[in-house]
Amino acid sequence: MKELIYTLFANYKDEIIFLHVISAVIWVGGMIAMRYAAHQSIQQLQSPFEKLQRTSYALKRLFVIVAPFIIIILLTAIIMLVGFGFHSAAIGADGNVINRYAMHLYNIVHLKESLWTIMTFNYLYMVVKRNKAQKLINSGDLVAAKVALSPIGQYLVPINIALGTLAIYLGVILQAG
Ligand code: HEM
Repeated sequence: MKELIYTLFANYKDEIIFLHVISAVIWVGGMIAMRYAAHQSIQQLQSPFEKLQRTSYALKRLFVIVAPFIIIILLTAIIMLVGFGFHSAAIGADGNVINRYAMHLYNIVHLKESLWTIMTFNYLYMVVKRNKAQKLINSGDLVAAKVALSPIGQYLVPINIALGTLAIYLGVILQAG
């Protein structure tokens, strides 16, 4: 497996980094467009039903669009981890730190892994909440549907935008290092 990853990285390094970056652009950019453009526009509608229905549908489209890119970020990250050799540059065969700066970069990699994990769980939680809201909209319970949808726009999407932005910043540090 490691050999395959080394070969992939050696032959397609630029493409792999490109896929990683474009996935981040689509995931984080998609959330910003949804939260601060589409959502604002939908709020102009008069009918509460239409508002909830449009919000739920737009979120569904966003979640479907970003799903493959969440996976691509992880796959390309794994290839880069092995390809760039963050672990072997930081830690020797005896398990001791052999280079402080490389260890610093390796810790940033762990931080990015944590951010990806939190963002993905947050994403999955939003998918479940939206599905629940859609069922409530279909059954005509608009009050409960609003309660289910509101935290997505108020907290959950903004949290993922902030975490994704931090992940991009950490990516820049790794790239420069
Ligand atoms: C799964 C955990 C992740 C790992 C292990 C990881 C690892 C890396 C590495 C090693 C680089 C440097 C590539 C280079 O040297 O050219 C990088 C760059 C980058 N990462 Fe990640 N990443 C992860 C998740 C994410 C997430 C969740 C985002 C944003 C949503 C993201 C956005 C970026 C961006 C935009 C760059 C390019 C920075 C630049 O070119 O200056 N990464 N990442």
